[in-house]
Amino acid sequence: MKYFIANWKANKNLKDAKEWADIFIKKANIGNKNLTVIICPPYPLIFSLNEKFKNIKNIFIGSQDVSMYEEGSYTGETSAKTMVGITTYGIIGHSERRKYFSETNNILFKKYEMTKKYEIEPIFCVRDEKDPIPESARFIAYEPVYAIGSGINEPAEKTVEMKKKLKIKKNNIFIYGGSVNEKNAIDYLHTNEIDGFLVGKVSLDPNRFADLVNLS
Ligand code: PGA
Repeated sequence: MKYFIANWKANKNLKDAKEWADIFIKKANIGNKNLTVIICPPYPLIFSLNEKFKNIKNIFIGSQDVSMYEEGSYTGETSAKTMVGITTYGIIGHSERRKYFSETNNILFKKYEMTKKYEIEPIFCVRDEKDPIPESARFIAYEPVYAIGSGINEPAEKTVEMKKKLKIKKNNIFIYGGSVNEKNAIDYLHTNEIDGFLVGKVSLDPNRFADLVNLS
């Protein structure tokens, strides 16, 4: 199984999202393939995308973050409890959250526990081997900071070395992210060590993201 995770970050509005979905459905060859596509849009677009993809069994919706709080007086937060029945996956610990929103390991572990409690599958991001990973994490996304949005992806061999340093277990799902595109992705797939990709910039273009998904 290969995983293709689109992280739209703070991009797109309702009109863009609908257009994106229409093009992607036409162009991506997902039918009976052994792959999972996870789209992580800004929260207000989730409902409309769920509607668009409701009849496609291997496309899922994820959130880009999850609150560390369960519920209550936390203006602006979206909790895992709220996301039940709406999203299947949740990204936790993206380096942009760590950097711009001062999310510490302690906060990220609380967020992780919330997703587990409400049966949302966490995709736990780390920047290198110094970032601790929750013991029971299944999806681990390795994203070296220098490679994010820079156009300089980490060579596949180095990513495989990092997989060892991170002590990724056999039953883990190891995701690489950082300037992945429809050309360089094949290098990672050839190693047979990388289970999928977390994709920022290229995922904003439905044609390019479909080309990437069609590599598997
Ligand atoms: P990028 O972003 O593909 O634009 O490098 C990846 C990410 O931030 O998840």
